[in-house]
Amino acid sequence: MSELVSAPDLVATFPFPYTVDSYRYSTNIAPARGVVTTATGQWGRHVVDIDSEYTLELAERRRILSTDPTRHAALPHMRIACWDTMVLLMTELAGSYPATMSLTRDGDVWHWRNELLDVAQDFVIGDESTLPCDPLAYIAGQVQEDIVLLDQRDGDLFADAGVVTFAAGWSFGFDVGMAFLEIHGPVPRLRETGVITRAREFLMRLQPGDFYRRTNWSMTVGRRLDVSTEAFPAWLPDPAQLDAVDDDTFGRLIHLRVEVQHVIRLPESGAICFLIRSYMLPLADIATVEQWRTRTAAVLAELPDDMAEYKGLTSYRDRAVAWLLTH
Ligand code: HEM
Repeated sequence: MSELVSAPDLVATFPFPYTVDSYRYSTNIAPARGVVTTATGQWGRHVVDIDSEYTLELAERRRILSTDPTRHAALPHMRIACWDTMVLLMTELAGSYPATMSLTRDGDVWHWRNELLDVAQDFVIGDESTLPCDPLAYIAGQVQEDIVLLDQRDGDLFADAGVVTFAAGWSFGFDVGMAFLEIHGPVPRLRETGVITRAREFLMRLQPGDFYRRTNWSMTVGRRLDVSTEAFPAWLPDPAQLDAVDDDTFGRLIHLRVEVQHVIRLPESGAICFLIRSYMLPLADIATVEQWRTRTAAVLAELPDDMAEYKGLTSYRDRAVAWLLTH
């Protein structure tokens, strides 16, 4: 096996997204926590996942939030949902990583410990003065996941709160307050195929304590988490520049980006918590696994033009296919 570009744990836990040699949108929602065995290892055991990029990604989130406050919003009626989310994610972390995290309670006072960040915090639910910042921002600073909270009312779902610093080709600031179908408006094929209306019906029927998940994928030039529309000028690849890079650089530059998304009905507020965790591996690492190399080439080659265009990979997909087939 040739030398890996990424840390070994990122390869071993990569949620390779394709199960056949082609890809179409579907209502691919399954129960959370099911462990998926892959060619390199496994993924999926935990709802909130920590890997070797933890401190780096949290620093990147802090940097983005300090320069662009629109990545964080909570409409006033989402206050309880924000507390709900903080306690839920702390509970998940403590259950999944008991050696370094714990959540305990004495009467009204809760105790949170996160040794990875050297944090020990006592708080009272509902009392913001007991935390250094609001509860949603507080927990978003300790998980690699982006968070969107959806309020359910009038037979619909609205994205009324969240902290999203790693959006792939969309803008949280623009979408805040929008309805579920409106948010998905720019995505080709979703409405016509009924995929997104079925997904919405499914979400609206979720019961407190229900945890589900799905995957989604795209490609990113460079290992760059913030590929939001507002950051376009900073990252939008220049096709001429990309054409000019040599083969070796191309394989290290182009990343398959996979989102593991969880949907959870929150117990107190009844809102839906949507978590987006973004994983990236360069083609150079994908190609070290024969099954991944050939399957990714097949999926990219077969992908309809409108989907390739929406995913932003039209200018380099042919070269990516050729690269994968010859490495
Ligand atoms: C539960 C809360 C969800 C939120 C807040 C959400 C939000 C979004 C956003 C903001 C986009 C990008 C749209 C754009 O380009 O402007 C997107 C894309 C998409 N969403 Fe969702 N989504 C959610 C759940 C789901 C579910 C349950 C499905 C199930 C089918 C789904 C399917 C898709 C698909 C297929 C895309 C296109 C992705 C691509 O090709 O890169 N979403 N979603």
